[in-house]
Amino acid sequence: MTDFDAEARAILVGNDRGGYTVPTKGLYPYQWNWDSAFAAMGFAAFDADRGWRELESLMAAQWPNGMVPHIIFHEVDLGYFPGPDVWGTGREPATTGITQPPIAASAVARLFAADADKARLAALYPKLLAWHRWFVEYRLDRGAVCITHPWEAGRDNAPDWDGAMASVDTSGVGEYIRRDTAHVNPEMRPQKADYDRYLAILYFGRDCGWDEVEIADNGPFRVADPSMTFILLRACRDLAVLGAELGEDTEEIEGWIAVLEAGAETLWNPEAGHYDSRDVRTGQFAGSLSCASYLCWYAGLVDDRMLPKLQSVLARVRYAVPSYDPDGPEFNALRYWRGPVWGIVNYLISTGLAEAGHMTEAARIRDDTRALIEVHGFYEYFDPLEGRPAGGAAFTWTAAIWLIWAGQADIGAN
Ligand code: GLC
Repeated sequence: MTDFDAEARAILVGNDRGGYTVPTKGLYPYQWNWDSAFAAMGFAAFDADRGWRELESLMAAQWPNGMVPHIIFHEVDLGYFPGPDVWGTGREPATTGITQPPIAASAVARLFAADADKARLAALYPKLLAWHRWFVEYRLDRGAVCITHPWEAGRDNAPDWDGAMASVDTSGVGEYIRRDTAHVNPEMRPQKADYDRYLAILYFGRDCGWDEVEIADNGPFRVADPSMTFILLRACRDLAVLGAELGEDTEEIEGWIAVLEAGAETLWNPEAGHYDSRDVRTGQFAGSLSCASYLCWYAGLVDDRMLPKLQSVLARVRYAVPSYDPDGPEFNALRYWRGPVWGIVNYLISTGLAEAGHMTEAARIRDDTRALIEVHGFYEYFDPLEGRPAGGAAFTWTAAIWLIWAGQADIGAN
């Protein structure tokens, strides 16, 4: 075990709040959905029981309709805005009313490989199935997964949403006090115009009682997104394997996989020559080459059309993978999802590349992630040009991907 391994473990243990992990102290004081899935994978490297508990606490917050919320507000913390009172979901424990990337089934697959506890798998399986079914029932547009709020994609202020966000009416938002900019440098965070829109969309959901049909028909924001589509596709493949392990009939999941594969193709922007987000309200592509575009391999698609674009981007940055095209008009090396490198996305991209046999690119992405962590520490994200660390420190998911991938010798079998 290296010192970095020990530090990564200590970060996970230090961010443990008793059955769930916070992403980092201060800035994010609650349980976040996809952060928890990465945390579980990290725990699987040294404490499988704690890994299972992470996912069990996440899935315990599932809504009756199958949705698994993006934040679970276990204990009120006034240092975070918008908190439970703003979301008004009436759930116990309180949660937000939107979801996040469905990594959980893939995390369960990893945990099960480390600790083949069939009883725990059998308890989680129907919940995962219900969550995936919720996506298929409420969130598909031509087979691609839609987000109803930028926070659902986990890529909060990506340029991908700029077009769709521009038409969100913020006239009813009023005054509010942000908390995030008290914890970290405002230059690294979304701007006020973004926050006004995040709240306008939130208020729409709250005011209709989080009615998915009303949100689909009249919500202010609906974008079909490659990251959600590719991640759900992968999660369905992993869930089908888990179902087979339990002797379940997986025909329904196989059907979803076929639908999502067709949906992924609707996200191919032929003019730009890459996977892209599509505004469902206008039918327009975003024209944004983002880190989500490279998740096609992780989705298990046999499709190398993105390879030249990836190689070109790798040649233009010191540290891969920038969350947005470094030569794009909206690129900003420090502002959150508008340029910086995110270790968890690197892990997903590199895993897919390795599985598809693109070992050079997979290794480059792993090595860059490792170097960033070794030189700067377990930060939330990093500048792709100079490697400057950004956002929160001692970050759970950065520690987790160190333990399962960035700090490991073998990059193939993740
Ligand atoms: C930010 C990120 C999101 C993450 C959350 C907690 O909102 O954009 O992806 O889940 O922080 O780490």
